[in-house]
Amino acid sequence: MNDTTLPAGDTAALLDLGRHYYLPVYRPRELVLERGQGARLWDSEGREYVDFAAGIAVCGLGHNDPDLHAALVEQAGKLWHTSNIFYSEPPLRLAEELVTASRFAERVFLCNSGAEANEAAIKLVRKWAASQGRPPQQRVIVTFRGSFHGRTLAAVTATAQPKYQDGYEPLPGGFRYVDFNDITQLETAMAAGDVAAVMLEPVQGEGGVMPAASGFLQQVRALCDHHGALLVLDEIQAGMGRTGTLFAHWQDGVVPDIVTLAKALGGGFPIGAMLAGPKVAQAMQFGAHGTTFGGNPLAAAVARVALRKIASAQVASNVSRQSQALREGLLAIGAEFDLFGQVRGRGLMLGAVLKPAFAGRAGEILDHAAAHGLLLLQAGPDVLRLVPALNITDADVAEGLTRLRAAVAALAGR
Ligand SMILES: Cc1ncc(COP(=O)(O)O)c(C=O)c1O
Repeated sequence: MNDTTLPAGDTAALLDLGRHYYLPVYRPRELVLERGQGARLWDSEGREYVDFAAGIAVCGLGHNDPDLHAALVEQAGKLWHTSNIFYSEPPLRLAEELVTASRFAERVFLCNSGAEANEAAIKLVRKWAASQGRPPQQRVIVTFRGSFHGRTLAAVTATAQPKYQDGYEPLPGGFRYVDFNDITQLETAMAAGDVAAVMLEPVQGEGGVMPAASGFLQQVRALCDHHGALLVLDEIQAGMGRTGTLFAHWQDGVVPDIVTLAKALGGGFPIGAMLAGPKVAQAMQFGAHGTTFGGNPLAAAVARVALRKIASAQVASNVSRQSQALREGLLAIGAEFDLFGQVRGRGLMLGAVLKPAFAGRAGEILDHAAAHGLLLLQAGPDVLRLVPALNITDADVAEGLTRLRAAVAALAGR
C-alpha cells in the first residue's frame, strides 16, 4: 500500500462511474490502475501486477520512465500548445528525427493517434492518385483480411474485418480486401490497374499477431511497382522497436512509400505520425489536410525522447533476449497444459494460439491472469497477446511467466 491508495470501497464507486457514464463501447477488467513503474502496475487497492500489455503496445519504455517524465515536465513548464498556425521547437525537431530514423521518408505529418495517422495516409494516397490524373474509380486501396487500421470511418473501412464495420454503413468506397499472405489474391485484385495503394501491417496485431510471411512484403512491393501503386505500411503496433528493429519492415527488406506510427511513439502520451517518402511527400499542399492538436509541443517533446531511447542498440538487444525468454516460457506452459498450438510473432509482439480444446477462452485466461497479478492482452478469442515494455527486465519476465503458469493451472483446475 502507498499513500495514494484509495480507501477501501472507493474502487467499487469508481467502477460504478464507468458503468454509468462511459459510452458502453469498452468492457475493461474490473480494476482501477493507479500507478506504474517499469513493467509493474498497482491498482487502487494496492494490488501489484506484472504488465505484459503495456497499454496495448504503447508504453514501450514501461511506466514512469524517468527520461520521458523529465521531458514532459520540462516542456510542461514552457509551452503546451501552439496549433499549426505557429511553430514550436519540439515537433520541428521530432519531424527531422523521424525522417532521419526512417531511412526513407522526406516529410512527416504529426497527429494524435493511429487512426488519424492512417486517415492521413488514406487521404494522401487519394491526393497523390488525383495528382497523377487518375479518376476516383482508379484510386482503390487494397487491404488485408484480419487487419486493423483504426476506428475513423475511412480507417475502419480499411480494416477488413466485418465486426468493426457492422452498422456503420454506408462505408466510404474505394477499398478492396484480400487474404493476408496470399500473393495470388493480391495479384488478381490489382490486375485491373485501378489500385492506387496496398496498405498492410508487417505483423497483424489485433488480427491475431500474424506476421507477414517471409518474402511477402517484397512480393507486395514488386506488385505495387508493377502497377504504379503505393506501398503503405501501418507500423502503429509493430513499429517503434516492438519487433526488434525500430521499424518492423527493416526485417523484410522493403522500402515503403508511406509509414504510419502512433502507440509507442509517445511512450504513453498520445501522438501519431505519417511518414511520406519521395513519391508522395509533395502530394498534399497548403490547406490539403490539418489538425489542431497534432504535433503539440508536449507530445513531441516526449516522443523525441521515446524515439531516441527506443532506437538504441540496448533496447533492440533486450527485445531479442526477452522475446526468447518469453517464447521459451510460453512453450513450456503450453506443453505442460497442452494449451498452445503455436507461439508466433516477432520480437516482443508475441501471440500464443490456443489449441482447439481451449478455443474461445482467451478472455477467461486474461481474467485468471489478472487475478494472479498479471496483465495480458488477447488478439481475438483464441490468441493470448504479449506486448510488454521493450526494456522489461529478466526478473519481470520470469515473474510474469510464473504468474501466467499459476493462472493457467487455475483455469485447468490443477
Ligand atoms: C496496426 C494498428 N493500426 C491502427 C490502430 C489504431 O490506433 P488508435 O487506436 O491510436 O487510433 C491500431 C490500434 O490498435 C493498430 O494496432
